[in-house]
Amino acid sequence: MMRNDDTPITLDLFAGQTPTTPGQVERIGEQSFVLRGFALPWLDRLLPALEAILQAAPFRQMVTPGGFTMSVALSSCGALGWTTDRSGYRYSATDPQTGHPWPDMPAAFREMAQAAARQAGFEHFEPDSCLINRYVPGARMSLHQDKNERSLTAPIVSMSLGLPAMFQFGGFERSDRSLRIPLFHGDIVVWGGVDRLRYHGVLPLKAGEHPRLGAQRINLTFRTAG
Ligand code: SIN
Ligand code: FE2
Repeated sequence: MMRNDDTPITLDLFAGQTPTTPGQVERIGEQSFVLRGFALPWLDRLLPALEAILQAAPFRQMVTPGGFTMSVALSSCGALGWTTDRSGYRYSATDPQTGHPWPDMPAAFREMAQAAARQAGFEHFEPDSCLINRYVPGARMSLHQDKNERSLTAPIVSMSLGLPAMFQFGGFERSDRSLRIPLFHGDIVVWGGVDRLRYHGVLPLKAGEHPRLGAQRINLTFRTAG
């Protein structure tokens, strides 16, 4: 059912922007998997719902506690949204830009994230937060751990849309070597359990034009935050 070998992931694949085989599962850690093309069958439900969310809670660039403006623009849906400003990183029940609750998490989002988690061996995933990251060419996310969540028992489910990106998946120290994994439209990465606190990041997005999403990459990250 699941391929547990350490299939080498070649950079040639990325250079050619050749999508990988839908249904292929690559194990990148003891409890970490790339599910190639997993989201593709869901897109007709996901994309209109995403558009509605972004009408209500548009992308905006947030400032880190250190005073840097993030190159990635953010939005959220679900009960809690991840935010950052000069006073710190945190989850908030309201959109700081509008003062309103974040848009509800659409059923298709939750069902897809739960199905992906299950495929990676995590039953009963109940995400209450979906962070929506928008990368334009040049935008990047430096190595970090996801650790603002109250409990670390739930996995992270991270879905890629649009232009391909080079994902870095490292160890438990920032300085540990990281794998470089090209991610394409419809791919999902799931990590949790013993791998939950692995450092990860995204290298600067290369310019390009995706047939469905245009000149951008959108990442949806599902978490149990509260
Ligand atoms: C994140 O770690 O929040 C984003 C990862 C990604 O964009 O793939
Ligand atoms: Fe992250």
